[in-house]
Amino acid sequence: MIMVIPEKLPVHVTFIMDGNGRWAKQRGQDRLKGHFEGVESVRAITEASVELGIKFISFFAFSEENWNRSEAEVSGLMSLMLRAMKNELPLFLDNGIRFRVIGNRERLGADVNEGIDTLEGLTAGGSRMTLIIFMSYSGKWDISQAARRMAAAGSDRIEDFLATAGVPDPDLMIRTSGEQRISNYMLWQLAYTEFVFTDTLWPDFRKQEYLAALEEYASRDRRFGKVK
Ligand code: IPE
Ligand code: IPE
Ligand code: MG
Repeated sequence: MIMVIPEKLPVHVTFIMDGNGRWAKQRGQDRLKGHFEGVESVRAITEASVELGIKFISFFAFSEENWNRSEAEVSGLMSLMLRAMKNELPLFLDNGIRFRVIGNRERLGADVNEGIDTLEGLTAGGSRMTLIIFMSYSGKWDISQAARRMAAAGSDRIEDFLATAGVPDPDLMIRTSGEQRISNYMLWQLAYTEFVFTDTLWPDFRKQEYLAALEEYASRDRRFGKVK
């Protein structure tokens, strides 16, 4: 059995959930089936994180660039998001999970925005763990919008204006499906994050592999530029 020492647990784990389309293609199924199965992985990772006592988990669910996919895939993903937000309410309430969405909300439809507001409101009291979905997000968008608002406020503290203000920078970033890139995710916030890449496709990424990644993280020596 894999044991993770509590002091070596990350505060914030973030996931670039990749490989849903390939998972479906391997089975001769529609890409959306892969996304559908990917939601099961999000639930499994959420449950495991609560059990472990992790304070923040976040998932890159839809990038700004993903708007360029087919209309069928984009609308399928939006419907899936809406449905998942309704279905997972009991999981969030039962476990003290606060739900948040970070991204360019202006590009999301009225129904999705309404669903987000409702779920964020209903789970606002959750204090055991915060779960963040990055939707219609890109790191470059985030830095641009922060720079604009920072200038308008006459400030020089970019962290206060990033869409992630108040959220600790990720300690660990896990990307599935074998791709080894950031794909315009949290460009600023990942400055000192530890990366774990796995060939496993997101719909197959479940608790055992998560624990293995946490064990790998625990073995890393984070120096932050200093000499130890
Ligand atoms: C990740 O899986 C989910 C999203 C980006 C929405 P993909 O849809 O990118 O799956 P692949 O990379 O095509 O296999
Ligand atoms: C990154 O996956 C974005 C999300 C997981 C939401 P992509 O599949 O869009 O990334 P690229 O195109 O392979 O870099
Ligand atoms: Mg992909």
